[in-house]
Amino acid sequence: MPIAVRWLLAAALLLAVTPASAQTPAPPVPAAPPVPRAWKTGDEAAAIERRIDDLIARMTLEEKVGQLNLWGRGDEFRMEWVEQGRTGAVMNFVTPSEIVAVQQHAARSRLRIPPIIALDAINGFATYMPQPLGQAATFNPRLVELASYWSAREARAVGINWTFAPMIDMTRDARWGRVMEGAGEDVHLASILAAVRTIGYHRGGLATSAKHYIGYGEAESGRDYNSVWIPVSKLWDYHMPPFQASLAAGVFTVMTSLSAMNGIASTADRHLVADLLKGQLGFRGFVVSDFESVKELIAHGQAADGSDAVRRAFGAGIDMDMMAGLYDAHLARLVRDGAIPEAAVNDSVRRVLRVKMHMGLFEEAPYDPALARRDLGTAEARAASLEVAREAVILLRNERGILPFKPSVRSVAVIGSLATHQADWQYTENAGLPRVISPRLTDALAAILGSRVRVTSAPAFATHCSLAAGDTAGAVATARAADVAVVMLGEDCEQYGEGTSRAHLDLPAHQQALLDAVIATGKPVVVIMHTSRPFVLTRFIDRVAAVIQAFHLGTEGRTAIAEVLTGRTNPSGKLPMTFPRATGQVPIYYDRLPTGRPRIKNFRYETGYLDESMEPLFPFGFGLSFSRFSFDQLALASASVPRSGTVAGSVRLTNAAGPAGQEVVQVYVRQRVGERSRPVRQLKFFQKVAVAAGGTQTVSFSIPVQSLGYHDDAGRYVVEPGTYDIFVGGDSNAALTASITVTE
Ligand code: NOJ
Repeated sequence: MPIAVRWLLAAALLLAVTPASAQTPAPPVPAAPPVPRAWKTGDEAAAIERRIDDLIARMTLEEKVGQLNLWGRGDEFRMEWVEQGRTGAVMNFVTPSEIVAVQQHAARSRLRIPPIIALDAINGFATYMPQPLGQAATFNPRLVELASYWSAREARAVGINWTFAPMIDMTRDARWGRVMEGAGEDVHLASILAAVRTIGYHRGGLATSAKHYIGYGEAESGRDYNSVWIPVSKLWDYHMPPFQASLAAGVFTVMTSLSAMNGIASTADRHLVADLLKGQLGFRGFVVSDFESVKELIAHGQAADGSDAVRRAFGAGIDMDMMAGLYDAHLARLVRDGAIPEAAVNDSVRRVLRVKMHMGLFEEAPYDPALARRDLGTAEARAASLEVAREAVILLRNERGILPFKPSVRSVAVIGSLATHQADWQYTENAGLPRVISPRLTDALAAILGSRVRVTSAPAFATHCSLAAGDTAGAVATARAADVAVVMLGEDCEQYGEGTSRAHLDLPAHQQALLDAVIATGKPVVVIMHTSRPFVLTRFIDRVAAVIQAFHLGTEGRTAIAEVLTGRTNPSGKLPMTFPRATGQVPIYYDRLPTGRPRIKNFRYETGYLDESMEPLFPFGFGLSFSRFSFDQLALASASVPRSGTVAGSVRLTNAAGPAGQEVVQVYVRQRVGERSRPVRQLKFFQKVAVAAGGTQTVSFSIPVQSLGYHDDAGRYVVEPGTYDIFVGGDSNAALTASITVTE
């Protein structure tokens, strides 16, 4: 895919010219490069198909079914199953000795087919990168690729070769706990990031799994696993593009969703999996179910029992059964009974073997546990974590320029255990591998500010991994004794990801009470929201001096925040999701359709709420800088353009005040009149641009007219002639406008 290739090249170029951070010691560069994963082409690909023919011809039915089982660490699992050829892939083994054991057992199996070894390596293994939503906030594909690369590289160091990532579900509902795994609400941004994440994991040495196919992020009410309803036009315009981008970038596998779309569980959806993904979209890799989702067809009411569930799932095109054990229990018998043709099993086995061969697993040397000591928690990985985190920090409010701290600030109180406790994450902790510690915000601040400024702290909550209420009075006293109070609030390590839906997006009561008490001291308060999703900030936003949004920024996240507080880093992060004023506004997103009754005169019979504005608190794409940027001189290359053409233009970006900084130039488009109602605006181009203090940059953009269309209810793509409005600026309220006519 051209865009993915473009970004990969751009990433390589930028990596080559980006100077190492001044604060980071020179990294000891590990000796051998990791094995990149990529589909082979031409003669090599043809030779692989012949090799698969030969192998399948020598396999028993049981050995074939064995390749379609994904087992994992757990009470039931027996290592002998690997030796017996009952295991195509394993998951959740994270210690080097376990990986060695799996490989040794596979080497003793009759056909010696190597298993794929999988893990949810989402944003790191030992050194953590910002969560994917935080990565998206950088609006910098190069950094997102880098974060994926390092997540893969470290997982690879413990013998993992397949990640259950990228999660590329579109997410407009902050109540859904998994918004942190995706790229937010915008389909253009998400599609570019889906491609670069796929490429980054491959470059780091892991095969990928695009998930969750499809529509999981639309879970009704934001309640995880809930039903999803998506019309055909929205499926194609909104949910499919990131999958198409990941497929084009060479994703190896696709995982179905735990949810049911339009009344059919994804794991039983023959139309979406067999016909569309494998047929129409030409996907050559294999499709894996989600965790026990084959078995869950019974709970969905779409299968009577385990055998029926296999019939449905396998019939829909699900090649591999994750953790349900039902293919193992029933598939061979269903083939012998004639209920499932052996040719279909052969096709699934071919897909699994194809992925293994294109990954190069058959040729790979046995895993060497020395890699874990060499490649985990390197200074290079930490430098990458810091580089990404710096651009992921989003400044939402900065009254009277409280930030960065002025020389008059002689003492800073840091409050909240998210800032005052050391943190590391579970994989290395549980695996007995070296721990990679995330510095406290207090230490990071003290290291920058030196002895000139006194940094004090009060945890106020239990630990970095539990925000249960603690010593509020102590925290208030600490704030009172300082010039500025920095309060870190939000969600702890048990409050994001799968199964963490929220009905309330406000701060929990005890956190709000703590914040109110600190505000009552009269000291200027800087709030850092350490959350995995947009929260409602309305209750305090006007009463604090500054707010920083940090979507769990990883190992060096607190260093990056300290750099922003002190002005060492000029923030450039932008919101990848709209921030609501109230939970009742959710789902709220910028690219909505207009209504027949827009809010103009502010009266009852216009769209809106009795008790709340319909505007968000902060729009998509918003984020402040210490620089003051302005846009002008928007110019289009022509007043009209044919459907086969490109909307080309330029805009001048000025850094009118403040230090050198980066701004994200965002170009939105609206089709004024169409056969269908079209979104009020849609992001079609963005570029992060560095501008020197007082400097200007003329930024050119080009948008293929073919990208301005939409799908109708039959799934046909149309680009209509007519007038299209262009909006350019630094967020989705971009005010500079022009228009262009698209001709036949
Ligand atoms: C269930 C999750 O939905 C999926 O994303 C994950 O990859 C699997 N569990 C395996 O951990």
